[in-house]
Amino acid sequence: MWLYDVILTLDVKGILLFIFSFLLIADFIRNRTPANFPPGPKALPFVGNILSLDTKHPHVCFSKLADIYGNVFSLRLGRQSVVIVSSHKMVKEAIVTQAENFVDRPQNAVFDRFYTEPSGGLFISNGEKWKKQRRFALSTLRTFGLGKNTLELSICEEIRHLQEEIESEKGKPFSPAGLFNNAVSNIVCQLVMGKRYEYSDHKFQTMLKCISDGVRLEGSIWGQLYDAFPQVMKYLPGPHNNIFSNYNAVRELLLEEIQKHKKDLDPSNPRDYIDTFLIEMENQKDSNLGFTENNLAFCSFDLLVAGTETTATTLLWALLYLTKYPEVQSE
Ligand code: HEM
Repeated sequence: MWLYDVILTLDVKGILLFIFSFLLIADFIRNRTPANFPPGPKALPFVGNILSLDTKHPHVCFSKLADIYGNVFSLRLGRQSVVIVSSHKMVKEAIVTQAENFVDRPQNAVFDRFYTEPSGGLFISNGEKWKKQRRFALSTLRTFGLGKNTLELSICEEIRHLQEEIESEKGKPFSPAGLFNNAVSNIVCQLVMGKRYEYSDHKFQTMLKCISDGVRLEGSIWGQLYDAFPQVMKYLPGPHNNIFSNYNAVRELLLEEIQKHKKDLDPSNPRDYIDTFLIEMENQKDSNLGFTENNLAFCSFDLLVAGTETTATTLLWALLYLTKYPEVQSE
């Protein structure tokens, strides 16, 4: 009641000042961290450290911060406090030695909007649904050759195509990034939808472009702003909207592929991840575990995006390393 009386005595300036102070205190209270929280740069109210981040070269920015604050440091990206783990020793400690403690995925506004079902797909899934889906994905990918000699044949075949493309450059300087993406993605396509695409295939190139543009935008200042202020950003025009149009285009393509698979599915002879998932949908009646057609599109999307981006980037860094230290090649 006293608060109401105070507000009645204020003019417009006073009310604005009151609202601002209220939001400032709320922001401070919401973002308090425990005493043993890793150190990090001072964060601004509301936006945290977003504005001081070089989102085009986050790895450079993070390395500099690790030099100052150590290999485990913290940042605030909009609403979320994040801990960045750097150095081989600490990364291994977090994702191998203490894997169980770091298994859950945090809330993320971009993902909340894209994955139209709770805890959908593989990447942001949590709890029992994640356990079941992850186990299913791993065993299915192994059935179709992951980590086995059978996949090596497909990889060798893909390398032949890659080599032809590289030779067609006739020794002129070129960026191998796009070619690596083609080759790696084709291996994942083989596992997920049982086929490879010609590099010149328009659909394939559109899909790869949508994936890389979507991933780049998600990590950019626009993605960070969307994650920080989703209720405002979803009504504003801007590049952040392209994250969803790009990802939805890939999802549409996968849904199309799922329909094709359904037409010529032979339950006694699954050809790939999509077929095996469709068969499992019939056996698994508990819809809380995510064996639905909608979730199949999300899981396939995750395999495609996670598999392509990570492996192509790892190969590019390896190539850079071998070029910089040619003596390693002889070993
Ligand atoms: C050199 C290649 C790769 C690297 C460096 C890499 C790295 C990673 C890392 C660090 C994670 C997070 C792990 C965690 O949070 O515990 C992850 C998750 C994941 N990766 Fe990879 N990955 C690679 C290849 C692949 C491939 C080829 C596929 C698909 C065929 C794939 C699919 C996934 C999926 C679906 C997840 C989420 C799994 C989950 O949350 O349960 N990755 N990857």
